[in-house]
Amino acid sequence: MERLCITGGQPLHGTLTTSGSKNAALPIMAASILADEPVRLEGVPRLTDVSTLADILRSLGMSVSRLENGDLDLASLDSIAVDSLPVRADYELVSRMRAGFCVLGPLLARRGRAVVSLPGGCAIGDRPVDLHLAALAALGAELKVEHGYVVARAKRLVGAELQLSGPRGPTVTGTANVLCAAVMARGESVLHGAAIEPEVVDLGGFLGAMGARIEGLGTPTIRVEGVEQLGGARYRIIPDRIEAATLLLAIAITGGRATVDGLVPQHIDAVLAALECTGCHIDTTPASVCLTGAQRPRAQDICAKPYPGIPTDIQAQWMAYLSLAQGRSTIRDEVFPGRFMHVAELKRLSARIETPVTSAGDGRVVVEGVKRLAGATVTATDLRASAALALAGLAADGETIVRDVYHLDRGYERLDAKLVKLGADIRRQP
Ligand code: EPZ
Repeated sequence: MERLCITGGQPLHGTLTTSGSKNAALPIMAASILADEPVRLEGVPRLTDVSTLADILRSLGMSVSRLENGDLDLASLDSIAVDSLPVRADYELVSRMRAGFCVLGPLLARRGRAVVSLPGGCAIGDRPVDLHLAALAALGAELKVEHGYVVARAKRLVGAELQLSGPRGPTVTGTANVLCAAVMARGESVLHGAAIEPEVVDLGGFLGAMGARIEGLGTPTIRVEGVEQLGGARYRIIPDRIEAATLLLAIAITGGRATVDGLVPQHIDAVLAALECTGCHIDTTPASVCLTGAQRPRAQDICAKPYPGIPTDIQAQWMAYLSLAQGRSTIRDEVFPGRFMHVAELKRLSARIETPVTSAGDGRVVVEGVKRLAGATVTATDLRASAALALAGLAADGETIVRDVYHLDRGYERLDAKLVKLGADIRRQP
C-alpha cells in the first residue's frame, strides 16, 4: 500500500487551481444513463471513484471514454436495444463507492428495471438509504430488497409529492437519485426537503441541458415536470469546493500565504468566515481566494451541517488545524455524528483531543490546542481523514508517514503533487 512521507514545517506559498467536483461528477455520470444521445463532460477529475463509476456504467452497457484533453464521453451502446441493456449494478463495484447507488433512479426512469447492490458499510458511520427507497416508491416504483440488492421495477414512473429529509437533514445523493427518476416520470413531482448543495444544483443544470424541466434548484422545494425523453449534452462540472477548502486549510495550518483559484468562493462562505475567525486574512475575487495564515490560529467552535453550513467533509481537516490553535475548540458533526475515526490518529501526532461524545443530536469532541505537533506513523481510515493526516503532517515537527493513502486518491486529484507545488516536502513511497 502506498504511503506519504511528509517533512513538516514548510509554510506554503504560490497559486493552485481547483479540480472538478467529485461529488458533482459522480451523480452526473450516473444521470447520463437517461440520455438518448451521447454526453460529453468537461472538468471530470481523475480519481479512483470516477474510474469505479465508469466501470459500473460499462457493466450497465454504457461506453465511457476519457479524451486526451480530459473530457469524458458517455453513451449507451446503441447496438443493444434499451430493453435488453443490463440493469444490474454489482456489489463488487457499489461496495467500493457508495455513490454507485446513484444509478438506481436513472435505471428505473430510463430502463424501467434495476437491480442495484445496497452500498454496504462505511467508516464514517451509519448511512441508510431509506429516504431514497421511500421516495422512489412514492413515484410508483415497485421495490424490494433481496440478498443485499434493491430489485426495482416501474413500467412508467408517475409524478408525486415526496420527502427527502430525515432526522439528520436532507439526503444529498437521495435527492440526486430521485431527481433523476422524477425528470422522466409522467406529470409533476414536488421534492420537499431536498438537498440544496451546489453539487445537486449542478446535477439539475446537467439534466436541464439534456431537456429536463426543473424549478427550485438550490431551494428545499424542487418542482419537476416529467418529459418522455432526454437528449445528450456537453456540460462542464463545477469546481470541487471540498478540495478548495482542504487546500485553504493546508495553507492555514502551515502559516503560509497562497492563492487557490478556479473555484466559486460563495460555495465555501461558511468556511472562509470561520477561517477569518481563527485569524487568517482572506482576499477573494469572483474565482479565487488568497489566504494569509495566522501566526497561531485562535480556537474556534465548529459545527458540521448540511449546506450552506461547514461541510462534514472538512470536519477532520478542521480538527487537524484547530489542534494547533490557542485555546479549546469544540467540534460537532450533525450530519455524521460518529465521523471521528481520525481522532486516534491525530492523537498519535501529539494532538490533545478528548474522546468523542455521541448524543442524539450530534457527535462532538473538544480539542485543546498545542503549540507543536510531532511527526509519527499514522494510518488513513477514510478519504477525508487521510487529508486531515496529511495536513497535520505538513505542520508537525520531523517526519510523518501516512499509510493507506489509496483513500486520498479516491477523492483528491494528486493532492500531494499539488501541495509540493506550494513548497511542501512530501514524497510518495510504494
Ligand atoms: C454525500 O453523501 C456525499 N457523497 C458525502 O461526501 C457527504 O459527506 C454527504 O453527502 C453529506 O454532505 C457524495 O456526494 C457522493 P446524505 P450521501 O444522504 O448522499 C442520513 C465525501 O467525503 N440519511 O446526504 O450518502 C445519513 O445517514 C463523501 O466526499 C438517512 O438517514 O449523504 C446522514 O446522516 C463522504 N437516510 C444524513 O442523512 C437516507 O436514505 C446525510 O446523508 C439517506 C441519508
